[in-house]
Amino acid sequence: MRMVDIIESKKMGNALTGEEIKFFVSKYTDGTIPDYQAAALLMAIRLNGMTPEETACLTMEMAHSGEQSDLSSIEGIKVDKHSTGGVGDKTTLVVGPIVAACGVPVAKMSGRGLGHTGGTLDKLESIPGFQISIPTKEFFDIVNEVGFSLIGQTGNLAPADKKLYALRDVTATVDSLPLIAASIMSKKIASGADAIVLDVKMGSGAFMKTREDARELAQEMVSIGEHAKRNCVALITNMDRPLGYAIGNSLEVMEAVDTLQGRGPEDFTQLCIHLAANMLFLAKKGTMEECFAQAQTALENKSAYKKLTEMVAAQGGDCSVLSDFTKFPQADHTYTVTAPRSGWVASMETQQCGVAAMILGAGRAQKEDPIDYSAGIVLSVKPGDKVEKGEPLAVLYTNLPDSIGQARQLLLDAITISDAPSEVKPLIYERVTASDIEPVLDLSSCS
Ligand code: URA
Repeated sequence: MRMVDIIESKKMGNALTGEEIKFFVSKYTDGTIPDYQAAALLMAIRLNGMTPEETACLTMEMAHSGEQSDLSSIEGIKVDKHSTGGVGDKTTLVVGPIVAACGVPVAKMSGRGLGHTGGTLDKLESIPGFQISIPTKEFFDIVNEVGFSLIGQTGNLAPADKKLYALRDVTATVDSLPLIAASIMSKKIASGADAIVLDVKMGSGAFMKTREDARELAQEMVSIGEHAKRNCVALITNMDRPLGYAIGNSLEVMEAVDTLQGRGPEDFTQLCIHLAANMLFLAKKGTMEECFAQAQTALENKSAYKKLTEMVAAQGGDCSVLSDFTKFPQADHTYTVTAPRSGWVASMETQQCGVAAMILGAGRAQKEDPIDYSAGIVLSVKPGDKVEKGEPLAVLYTNLPDSIGQARQLLLDAITISDAPSEVKPLIYERVTASDIEPVLDLSSCS
């Protein structure tokens, strides 16, 4: 088999065979196929797409390209959650503890943030002492004892994805639906969970900008999950505004703690309950309504908050910061961005809000860049809110005073204020299962 023939076939719009995909993944991972040939194939896939069978096959080959986590020493149905990436997305810090408090083990491997999106590992590392690299046995022990543990992805999990993602990043082939689906699902399948809830973000801060694309990605990933015998559900959720108000690592941990204490932002709290309820449902904890009720109770009776503190303590973190936020490292400079005119907040260019936080020091432009855990933005408004000229739109936190001017301008450009109130988009658009696309259950029906 020759790589040039595989590239030629995809260039002409043909579906690749299972043997061809296997050949490509294994020979690219072991270094036999050079980057320039892999890049040519990626671009042909980006331009001509893949059939669902090809995408499923690519996913499985990538999932099997390295180690696979064996979670069998953890009792019960293990359910994972994955977000396709957004701004202010700290859901794992709330959803993991809720699900664990309801008796379902969560053994989570997470990644770091890059560009305008944040990563859960960075957020947790903003807690002094927190260890994200612990031996596998300790990871399993914490899941068995506490119910929730979170570590960095181990080096050899889906190495094909690691290489391919780096190549996609520099060859303008990240925005390919089959390649995104295969990339995400290969890691989830290799991570070993029995079932997976996918949070597919849609809007100005997400990879998927339209409902159609988000739905196609959700359906593709759910069907790959079924193929791999993992029960999957996807929620398509709003990323036309940052989630919650906080963007930036320790700022987001504080907002997650506030949420677990019952004083979190409404949108963020609701999304966490929906995601947690779907995880409990896949873990067979009851009907959807019963799972909603369980998730809500775990928040209300603070058992989820207790789980977070136990997990932080088990992984070496200083729990006292969770009850006294002044113990987090504090930014030296704060700056309040005010409304240039009166009116209603009509929209927020979410990606730009993420970039503004990155410029203040909260994120990385390049993989190796250091980050400042204390830096970021706390918004004061959301789309739909009325503001008067001179009222705060956001507070910026940084140790890089020279970055404030640029971040301020980005934020002012990102927030559109109009004369009249405009329609506010829903938080969750729909729920995609293997057999259906459903409207999302109305939470107001459960007490
Ligand atoms: N997240 C991933 O892990 N892979 C992609 O391709 C896109 C988002």
